[in-house]
Amino acid sequence: MKVLILGGSRFVGRRLARELLEDGSHQVAVFTRGRADDGLGPGVERLRGDRRSAADVRAIAEGRSFDVVYDFLSYDARDARLAIEAFDGRTARFVHISTCSVYWCAGEFPCPVEEDDYARLDAARERPSSIEYAYGSGKRGAEDELRRAREATGFPVTVIRMPIVAGEEDASLRYAGYVQRVAGGGPLVLPDGGHAPFRHVYVADVTRALRSLAASATGVGEAYNLAGGEILTLRRVVDGIARLMGCEPERVAIPAARARRAAGDAYATLFPFSQEAAQVPSIRKARRDLAWEPTPWETWLERSVRWAQRHLESGGAPPPASEHRALEIALAGRWRDAMLSFDAEAWTSSEPPG
Ligand SMILES: NC(=O)c1ccc[n+]([C@@H]2O[C@H](COP(=O)([O-])OP(=O)(O)OC[C@H]3O[C@@H](n4cnc5c(N)ncnc54)[C@H](OP(=O)(O)O)[C@@H]3O)[C@@H](O)[C@H]2O)c1
Repeated sequence: MKVLILGGSRFVGRRLARELLEDGSHQVAVFTRGRADDGLGPGVERLRGDRRSAADVRAIAEGRSFDVVYDFLSYDARDARLAIEAFDGRTARFVHISTCSVYWCAGEFPCPVEEDDYARLDAARERPSSIEYAYGSGKRGAEDELRRAREATGFPVTVIRMPIVAGEEDASLRYAGYVQRVAGGGPLVLPDGGHAPFRHVYVADVTRALRSLAASATGVGEAYNLAGGEILTLRRVVDGIARLMGCEPERVAIPAARARRAAGDAYATLFPFSQEAAQVPSIRKARRDLAWEPTPWETWLERSVRWAQRHLESGGAPPPASEHRALEIALAGRWRDAMLSFDAEAWTSSEPPG
């Protein structure tokens, strides 16, 4: 099969490219700017350009056709329009990589959230202050554009919505940040105790589903959530990491509102997976239509932790959370002291820790 991946040099896209190459029966092309080393070796065709440039995207498709195009680089309606213009009539299948933030950016969403709930969510009632807002509403714009093209010309799109993706080679280093903090013994701050429920998904489960789409016509015109089977919390993730590493880090629960005030723009970097609402995608539809089954959490958590340990021990890039370690220690100390001394002022103060 002739496969094109828009992206393919960082995480999910790179793993997909590698697995398709290993399969041996595909001609695989990846499209990036060529800044990052894709590590894919010689068997792949490398197309260069900027996904935001209409001319560069048009040039990819000129004079050729594909069996499947996977788009990891479409973030808004304009990106989607460029893809539709370039690939309509030139690919048998177009897989748009989306995100469950298309639900989370809305002011209200059900738990669990089904694919069809997308249409019921009122984007105009989104919360502009939410960190998910710009990303999720941009991705909604891309999805809406693709759905219109499906209705107008039969554009062969399938939308894949993922929550946080975890696993080996996760370039975001969000899990690795917790591995590092657990290894250090803490203190490890858990906003609101880390009890909000969510689902994440294992990278190899995503790439397995994406490869299955190339091999069949199932799901054209459909959207699918892909997520792990277990409903997790940050507390459960940290406890699981600690168990695997044989460590018992000090955990300090503090009010999320206080952590947000103190951390400001660094909140999401310092406290990944600390959203306040339940974020639980339903996976009934992928199970039913794609015969897809996610790997048990214990299995992929262990793989993720071992990879993160190797990454950290070999001097790999530090997790972004480590930049703000001093703030976390200050917050943890302040709350522990406040609890011990029953200092009402410290419980309610909005001042950042000194
Ligand atoms: N990771 C998650 O937890 C998660 C969750 C939900 C959804 N997603 C979705 O997954 C997608 C990202 O997947 P991925 O990280 O696996 O990406 P990927 O397919 O590995 O592609 C990332 C690569 O694309 C290239 N690139 C970036 N901007 C570009 C541009 N303007 N033009 C051309 N190439 C560009 C970069 O290489 P160069 O610098 O060399 O160009 C980068 O290394 C996004 O659509 C995101 O919304 C991710």
